[in-house]
Amino acid sequence: MKKTLLVMLALVILVGFAFGAKYVVGTSADFPPFESVENGVFVGFDIDLIKAIAEEMGFEVEIRDMSFDSLIAALVSGNLDIVISGMTITDEREEVVSFSKPYWTADQSVVVREDSEMSVTVLFGKHNIGVQTGTTGDIWVEENLVETKILTGDFKRYDTYVLAMTDLVNRNVDAIVLDAPVAESFAEVRPVKIVAIIKTYEDYGIAVNKANKELLELINEGISRLEESGKLNELNLKHF
Ligand code: ARG
Repeated sequence: MKKTLLVMLALVILVGFAFGAKYVVGTSADFPPFESVENGVFVGFDIDLIKAIAEEMGFEVEIRDMSFDSLIAALVSGNLDIVISGMTITDEREEVVSFSKPYWTADQSVVVREDSEMSVTVLFGKHNIGVQTGTTGDIWVEENLVETKILTGDFKRYDTYVLAMTDLVNRNVDAIVLDAPVAESFAEVRPVKIVAIIKTYEDYGIAVNKANKELLELINEGISRLEESGKLNELNLKHF
């Protein structure tokens, strides 16, 4: 009983700390159904999730679109308070920022043009492969295909997946490696298809500056409450 009271008190203080505060949230809005821009407005699961957490915990958010590759540096330098961007929790990233508890799990996938005859073997030999700079897909291709010389064609890095997909459709690359749920989303609106899943078992987390322990606790508490209330499930059904 006493413990419950203490926990409650801690939460009241925590919420009091953030009440009314406004946090700048960075994302790379090229990643449907997690984050994208529709008619000039940010939409997607991540956008709804961070807004729901903010509402639940009593703070405000302002969303800022940036290239994925610059999000972590912006958190570290203090230009951003929060990053939500389908970002995988990795050991390397955890050395520089803190992550919330996981809110999603995903694998990588290989996407080719709808009319392509190629299979997973598109990753081998003289083919051109595209990724988004700084993503786990980028690192996977670099470590498994480029360094091993399994891939001998061009390895192209793009600022956004939107550009990568356009280059794929325009036949400038033969395949793109990206997170499977996002590949599925692109396949619904572009003439592309998934030909392979690479089991990487990635967990997505929300990132904050390492020094910002209170904010991290707020976010984790927010996620827990949304899980319990069923709101997280609602968001899931809305976007997937
Ligand atoms: N999950 C991958 C990673 O963390 C890709 C994330 C890309 N996110 C985006 N909004 N473009 O590296």
